[in-house]
Amino acid sequence: MTIHTADASLAAARPVAAVHDRLVWPPYSGASPAEHVPAADPFREVRWLAWPSEWRERGMKILDVGCGTGHISVGAAKHNARADVLGVDASETAIRAAKDRAERLGVGNVGFAACIPHDVESLGETFEFIYCTDVLMYVSSAGEVLRHLRNVLQPQGVILASLLGAHGRFGVTMIRDILRVVGHGQISPFQALLARKLMDATNDRHPFRKQEFAADLRSDDATLAHLFLHPEEQAHTVRQTYELAADAGLQILRFEPAGFYEPEGYLTDPDALRPFADLSPEQRRGAAELLHSRIRMHNVLLALPGFEMRAPSVGDGDWLDAVPVRSRMWQWQPVGGSNGQAGGLSASQSFWSIEHKGQFGGWQAQVIALCEGDRTLGDVWGTVSAHPGLWAVDEDQRVEAFRAFIGKCVSRSILHLTR
Ligand SMILES: C[S@@+](CC[C@H](N)C(=O)[O-])C[C@H]1O[C@@H](n2cnc3c(N)ncnc32)[C@H](O)[C@@H]1O
Repeated sequence: MTIHTADASLAAARPVAAVHDRLVWPPYSGASPAEHVPAADPFREVRWLAWPSEWRERGMKILDVGCGTGHISVGAAKHNARADVLGVDASETAIRAAKDRAERLGVGNVGFAACIPHDVESLGETFEFIYCTDVLMYVSSAGEVLRHLRNVLQPQGVILASLLGAHGRFGVTMIRDILRVVGHGQISPFQALLARKLMDATNDRHPFRKQEFAADLRSDDATLAHLFLHPEEQAHTVRQTYELAADAGLQILRFEPAGFYEPEGYLTDPDALRPFADLSPEQRRGAAELLHSRIRMHNVLLALPGFEMRAPSVGDGDWLDAVPVRSRMWQWQPVGGSNGQAGGLSASQSFWSIEHKGQFGGWQAQVIALCEGDRTLGDVWGTVSAHPGLWAVDEDQRVEAFRAFIGKCVSRSILHLTR
């Protein structure tokens, strides 16, 4: 197989490709149909965030850089029949698995090529949307890769990239650094056994024990290697992420989930919040990262300077025809309520649990519960307005309250609207 690559970067990419040749991500053997299932439309949220006025599906050229075994590329193609998707990866094993997945699912509008992230220009194409998730943490220069991605981004295009959060991985980083010490500065993805023994040896006060994702690190070796044992692993703070973007000639449109990056999510005392009012968006997001303390991954939406993102809104005339779809970012769980009421919904993320206490009691929680499946907002509204028990507000205020509530869910990325 021919690998599209610049020579200098190939040397750096080889060890990473070798890891992923042996431990492909996501794990895929092709043996069982359950494995072939692609990601639920990975494009939906970005389409909504970046081009909120264009809910309807449109044809688009999509590049998935470091596509691994293709669950995202195949998912994007399957759910967006008019899109033209290309997945690239340096690991030949991963590419073979990705092709197998697409073939078994009969998804035709996706292709795969071997190419390292530093050499996407050699593909000779430009793209309206570029995914680069779970890749930049393994390259020695994430900024350099972003520059290459910018070179193949169409003027109105966006990039969705993920980076490891430096603060949120503190406990894991400590374990990893012990491995580095005993490995004389080296870390190997094949140290899974020793890594597990070290994790078991931590005491209850060790920051590792406080990481909610510690359990993930105990699963299969591919997951462990992917999350933890990469030779080149790099993590970034919010400030460093801004620097990377600026060096690459890109602007940051937003971090996702946006609510994590708002100081208001953590502080309710107006006196404590006052000093944050004058800060730049970058400073506010950096401060929120410190207040949260456990953001382990930054999902960041990037575009060329001049790209204007219109805030998602339910102000458009036809919003009642839209279908509300819950964000994949939030895991809803019903929580018990008092007085026979449904109570509310909480999410696994701590930020939302805090928010939930103030916002999601009573009827609002029940409205959210109705926003499941393929009913339009109009249908949800119909059910809500016909059911007096769902309301604690005056009749005349119902539409406005409903709209304001949905608007808030939309701007916080809890609900996305689609058609
Ligand atoms: C963890 S997987 C991510 C798969 C997929 N993008 C996702 O989000 O699930 C990382 C992929 O990036 C590729 N990759 C990472 N660093 C690379 C590098 N320096 N050069 C080439 N490929 C790289 C690996 O081969 C691997 O398949």
